[in-house]
Amino acid sequence: MSEKVLKIAFIGGGGIAKNHAKWLSKFDDVRIVAVAEVSAETNTWWETEYDVPTFTDYHKMLAEIKPDAVDICTPNFLHYQPGIDALKAGAHVFVEKPMAMNADECQEMIDVAQETGRKIVVGFQHRFEPRVQYISNAVEAGRFGKIMYTRVSVYRRRGIPNWGVFGRKDLQGGGCLIDIGVHALDMAWYAIGRPKPVAVSGNTWTYIGDDADKAGDVACMWPKWDTETYTVEDLAVGQIRFEDGSILALETSFAMHGQEEGYNFSIFGENAGASLSPLKIYTDDFGHQVDVTPAFLPNEEIWDVKVRGMIDHFLNDGPNLSPGEDGLLVQQMLDGIYRSADVGREVQI
Ligand SMILES: NC(=O)c1ccc[n+]([C@@H]2O[C@H](COP(=O)([O-])OP(=O)(O)OC[C@H]3O[C@@H](n4cnc5c(N)ncnc54)[C@H](O)[C@@H]3O)[C@@H](O)[C@H]2O)c1
Repeated sequence: MSEKVLKIAFIGGGGIAKNHAKWLSKFDDVRIVAVAEVSAETNTWWETEYDVPTFTDYHKMLAEIKPDAVDICTPNFLHYQPGIDALKAGAHVFVEKPMAMNADECQEMIDVAQETGRKIVVGFQHRFEPRVQYISNAVEAGRFGKIMYTRVSVYRRRGIPNWGVFGRKDLQGGGCLIDIGVHALDMAWYAIGRPKPVAVSGNTWTYIGDDADKAGDVACMWPKWDTETYTVEDLAVGQIRFEDGSILALETSFAMHGQEEGYNFSIFGENAGASLSPLKIYTDDFGHQVDVTPAFLPNEEIWDVKVRGMIDHFLNDGPNLSPGEDGLLVQQMLDGIYRSADVGREVQI
């Protein structure tokens, strides 16, 4: 075990921060040293559960505590500025997904990290799934030949978060696309080797989330979201063209009439194809069509890999498993879908 200890402070202490704290607590070489959170009730929870000092103003926390790193778990509109302020205060930044509200903000965060010599890790975790790693390894080994097309999706039938500000376009930047589509996109884009996006077309629709009758009448896992302030999309689709000529199509929804389905993607390659669920590589062998499924997958927990990877990168100069540069490219694709929806045609990145 390393003798060094990473002193980390939260900015935003809500739902996902509490989850991070659970995983951080598993390791001896990281210590939660403070929480900056505007809710007094939440601060009391942190004081009680983790016995840490709390602040309502994150600037004050940065100045007084001087953490080695911050864990940014605020709503999306508060990823950029706290990120910049923390980097300038000398802290590494672990920022939840999406990295920021748009690609310009991501780029500036990366620039400031370079200027200050600090590091950024983005909180994507689905890329660490053993199934994704299996496909990613096969891609890297050239198993598929040229990949022509990737189809990606995640659907919740009625799964609009009913806490926080997930229905507010001004505070979150968008709806299903930036909330869950971002995970699906990241995992598939990572698996196919992170090609450079060059053009995007897409559209978004809102037809359930802002309708008080529909929200009130149908039983669901997170009922009674705020339909009054709901300004984000229920459904988003996009088509991303990469520099290598391949295409990725993304579909996502958190309010729809259709079959609920978790994160999934399929790859269409010259020599083989793949699907995440069911996990298979489809190819031809000895004159037969063959489906390949691993007989065993490591039982790795994605949150464990995410948090351990962050600690190792910040503390021990280990590899950055989810760098700011990836956050930027993912955000460029999301921005592209929103921009294309606005202008009604394909847009360049
Ligand atoms: N990786 C994942 O799977 C995952 C899952 C859930 C959420 N998230 C991301 O985590 C972020 C937070 O989501 P959440 O579900 O925890 O939301 P949440 O509403 O539960 O928590 C956000 C917290 O930020 C606090 N906050 C608001 N303004 C603040 C300020 N100025 N200073 C300090 N604290 C402030 C709020 O009081 C709240 O407690 C979002 O960006 C979301 O996309 C990621």
